[in-house]
Amino acid sequence: MELPFSESYKIKMVEAIRKSTRDEREVWIKEAKYNVFNLQSYQVYIDLLTDSGTGAMSDRQWSAMMLGDESYAGASSYRRLKETVRDITGFEWFLPTHQGRAAENVLFSTLVKEGDIVPGNSHFDTTKGHIEFRKAAAVDCTVDAAFDTSADHPFKGNIDLLKLEDVLSEYPPERIPFVIVTITCNSSGGQPVSMDNLRAVREMANRYGVPVVFDAARFAENAYFIKKREKLYSNRSIREIAGEMFSYADAMTMSSKKDAIVNMGGFIAFRKEEWFRKASVYNIMFEGFITYGGMSGRDMNALARGLEEGTEFEYLDTRVRQVEYLGQKLREYDIPVQTPIGGHAVFIDAGKFLPHLPREEFAAQTLVTELYLEGGVRSTEIGTLLADRDPVTRENRYPAVEYVRLAIPRRVYTNNHMNVVAAAMKNIYDRRESIIRGYTIVREAPIMRHFTIELKPAGE
Ligand code: F0G
Repeated sequence: MELPFSESYKIKMVEAIRKSTRDEREVWIKEAKYNVFNLQSYQVYIDLLTDSGTGAMSDRQWSAMMLGDESYAGASSYRRLKETVRDITGFEWFLPTHQGRAAENVLFSTLVKEGDIVPGNSHFDTTKGHIEFRKAAAVDCTVDAAFDTSADHPFKGNIDLLKLEDVLSEYPPERIPFVIVTITCNSSGGQPVSMDNLRAVREMANRYGVPVVFDAARFAENAYFIKKREKLYSNRSIREIAGEMFSYADAMTMSSKKDAIVNMGGFIAFRKEEWFRKASVYNIMFEGFITYGGMSGRDMNALARGLEEGTEFEYLDTRVRQVEYLGQKLREYDIPVQTPIGGHAVFIDAGKFLPHLPREEFAAQTLVTELYLEGGVRSTEIGTLLADRDPVTRENRYPAVEYVRLAIPRRVYTNNHMNVVAAAMKNIYDRRESIIRGYTIVREAPIMRHFTIELKPAGE
C-alpha cells in the first residue's frame, strides 16, 4: 500500500480555541455592526479572516529571535536578512519595512505621481489604495478567465497581454511608473502567474520602456504552482524558480506576513541603486533607519529564517494541499468556488451561492455573516465592500465576482478544522433560499472602507 500524504512538521506548542453558541454569536455579530473585523478573537472558533501574520512560527524561527541584534544601525540581523533576500531574489538593494503596505507607501512615494497609470493584475486593496491616494489610477489587466469561477485555467493570475499593450500604447511611459504583477494574485483567488506570462510582461514592458514591480507577498506559493503546472519547471527547485521569477522584475514589495511566515514584517528589494537611494529617504521618514525600517532585530532574524522555510518544497506542498483539501470538500458539496483552488485561500462565489440577493445588499458580506453565525468561522468579503467607491463618481464599484475568502493561516489548523468549515458552509448552502435579506451600510470611511464599515440588516 502506498503511504498517504502527511504534514511536513509535528506540533510542539498549542493554543486553545473556544466554541460558542449560536445565541452568543447573534449578540456578538450585532455588537460588531455586522463587520467581522470588529469581532474579538475569543468570539471566533476558526479564524480564516486572513493568512496574513497569522501563521505559526517554527522552533528555528523562535530560536533565531533570541539571537536578534537590536543595534539601531548596522545590526547583524539586518545583514543576515539582506543576504537571505539577495540569495532568494537576486536583488542587491534592500529596505526593511514594518509590513507590506508600508513597502508600498515607501516605493510608491518614490515612483508614483498624480495622473499616473499603474497597470497590473487585480491590484490588492492596499496597493490600489496607495495608488489612488496619490491621485493615480490602477488599471486591471487580468485575464478574463479569472472572472469566470468555473473556467479551468492553470494561471488565472496572468496578465492579459492585449489589455496590457492597450494601456502601454495609450499612455506615454512618463505616466506609467511601472507595471505591477501580484504573485500570487490575491484578489482573483490566490491564483498564480505563469513564468511564461512573467517573461512576456517583462519583454513587453521593455519594449515600452516601463519598469516592472512584483507584489511578492505569496511568491513562494506562486513558484510552487509553476513547478506543479508548467512543464518546463517540474524538476526545478522552488529556489531556482523564484530566482527566475524575480529576474523579470526591477523591484519587489513584500508583505512578509504571508509566505515568509512571520507575524509582522515587510521589505522592498531593488535591482537599481538609484531607486534604493530615493526610497531610502522615505524609508527613514516613514519607517525607520534603513537597517531596520520598522522591524526589531529579532523580527528580522525570524523573517530570514521564515524565508528559508517558506521556500522549501515539503512545507509548500503541505500548505497548498491543505487549501486544496478544503476547496475539494466544498466542491463535493456543490458549493461554487473559484477553480482551480488557489494557494492561500478558497474563494467562494457568493453571487452564485446567493443569486437571489440584490447587488445593493452585498451577497458576499451576507454569506460571511451567515458562516460566522453557523459555525463561529470568520472569513472575509472580497466583493463590493472591498472594491470601495469610484474615487470620482463615489458610486459603489461592483466587481465581476462577489467572493467570500476562506484564508488558511500557515501551519495553524488541521484538516479536521477544515471539515468543520466545509460542513458549516454546506448547512448554509442547503438553506440558501431562506436567506432573503442582505445588509445595508450605516457608516463607512472614504477609502478602504471594509475594515471599519458599519452595517445593518436590510429593511431594519
Ligand atoms: N499585497 C498583497 C497581495 C496582499 O495580500 C497584502 C495583504 C498586501 C500587499 C499588504 O500587506 O498587510 O503586510 O500591509 N493582504 C492581507 C490579506 C491583509 O488578508 O490578504 P500588509
